[in-house]
Amino acid sequence: MNRFRTLAATLALAQLVQVAPAAAADSELPRLVERGGRHALLVDGAPFLILGGQAHNSSNYPAALPKVWAALEDAQANTLAIPVAWEQVEPEEGRFNFSYVDTLVAQARAHGKRLVLLWFGTWKNTGPAYTPEWVKFDNARFPRMRDQEGKASYCLSPFGEATLAADRKAFVALMRHLRNIDAGKRTVIMVQVENEVGTYGLARDHGARAEAAFRQAVPGAVLARQPAPAGRPAQGSWSEVYGDYAEQYFHTWAIASYIEEIAKAGRAVYDLPMFVNNALREPGQPGQPGQLDQLPPPWKGDFASGGPTWDVLGIYKAAAPHIDFAAPDIYMPESGKVAAVLESFQRPDNALLVAEMGNAATYARYVWQIVGKGALGVVPFGIDYASYSNYPLGSKHTDRRMVEPFAQVYAAFAPMSRLWARWAFEGRTHGVAEGDDRAPQTLALDGWKATVSFREFQFGERQYLRDKNEYAEGTELPGGGVAIAQIGPAEFVLVGQRARVKLSSAGGKPAMYARVEEGRFDAAGKWIMERNWNGDQTDYGLNLPAMPTVLKVRMGTYQP
Ligand code: DGJ
Repeated sequence: MNRFRTLAATLALAQLVQVAPAAAADSELPRLVERGGRHALLVDGAPFLILGGQAHNSSNYPAALPKVWAALEDAQANTLAIPVAWEQVEPEEGRFNFSYVDTLVAQARAHGKRLVLLWFGTWKNTGPAYTPEWVKFDNARFPRMRDQEGKASYCLSPFGEATLAADRKAFVALMRHLRNIDAGKRTVIMVQVENEVGTYGLARDHGARAEAAFRQAVPGAVLARQPAPAGRPAQGSWSEVYGDYAEQYFHTWAIASYIEEIAKAGRAVYDLPMFVNNALREPGQPGQPGQLDQLPPPWKGDFASGGPTWDVLGIYKAAAPHIDFAAPDIYMPESGKVAAVLESFQRPDNALLVAEMGNAATYARYVWQIVGKGALGVVPFGIDYASYSNYPLGSKHTDRRMVEPFAQVYAAFAPMSRLWARWAFEGRTHGVAEGDDRAPQTLALDGWKATVSFREFQFGERQYLRDKNEYAEGTELPGGGVAIAQIGPAEFVLVGQRARVKLSSAGGKPAMYARVEEGRFDAAGKWIMERNWNGDQTDYGLNLPAMPTVLKVRMGTYQP
């Protein structure tokens, strides 16, 4: 069967997407599906695109929520990611209080938003700050990691049996509560288990239980996903198999196994998709796509050992099958690094969700690239009007100026987000963000090529100018991007800003536009044409202005 449907069929599918929630009724929980190495998050039975925002760390209290909703509304986001802290739901051992969760879920429904809950338990940015006091200061019962000299680390040990039992008990209580209050409406669509796990400054635990485990043979499941480096024995103890990588890999396995116990127990009572997030190790090294036959240098204190960094995703897959995927937290504004991170985390066995990203304006253009690449979604951090600026990690602003660049992009995707998620799952979507070098980029489409350039004038070519270095106003910093969905053999939905797109036939046949309709999809997924671009508006390519614009383009070829 032809891979492409006619537009009519695609729009009929859109209607299906719209009716799915009612048809799926109360039975269908959110779940992650994979087909041909692509992924979709099904919500109410249909692919869902997360246009998200994450609240600040201390906004997980009812009094803080109004400023969160205000920012989220301004951003036109459809999903809020927000912590639920162990310290707040179990301040005294065994006495649970979920009143904050109740308020949060009720308010999310009132605002028409979905929730991704972030379980801040044993580890939050590797540390125990969000554990209840009865855990934090009782290190006889809840041990910290030990270094080679036996000195305590700040980080709780993944070998703490009582710690695991207590965290698991609290997490299960949370999931049971969610099932009771939300299984019918499914406001909460996913749960992140712990937050940016791993350990800084120490490659692994040296406590007695850890030492004994370190001397054991590497489990077969780990060997299958994370083979021995070239020239090393295929099995044996961690040191024998992995040599210089042994401590990091062992600690990764220990933390992933701990998380698995929590996720497995939580899903047994309420089976929502679950994931982990990652404080990145430096991208662009051997071991990443393009250099997969090599390994990056061994850990030397340069990132959190034990976290789901791109080099050890296989260990997480082996040790934590109840975790659906590992997600990157992107606080590196450089376009080359962002691209390398996206490549590393989008794998046939790992769905791509950008679980966090800086909220500075420069990051907004990456939404085109991320959503275009078919990610489950994207969640800039600090979409929250609490007076707290994440500069230099994120924006200097804490008001509408911070939200506006994201709002523009989200507004373009929002009405067609269900359609887009479906197209992404079908492998029809592509995306680019303007690079730091401002250079043109090409996208290989099915039978077509898109050339995307930046800093162009809307009318004419740059070389027509007397001063070739004169650039269009408003393009002083990189801020362009385009996402393209190929919805038919020669038909495209093209959405973006501050970019010029030229479409040409991959086979070199002469081609021209049949139609270039500007418009939008309505809530039912029906295309509403507002005008047809022609003449000056198409003579120099499709010049997407500063304000995001949606085009439905049909191309035609003719005989030379
Ligand atoms: C990454 C963490 O996961 C977030 O909770 C937050 O601390 C940001 N860093 C920084 O704002």
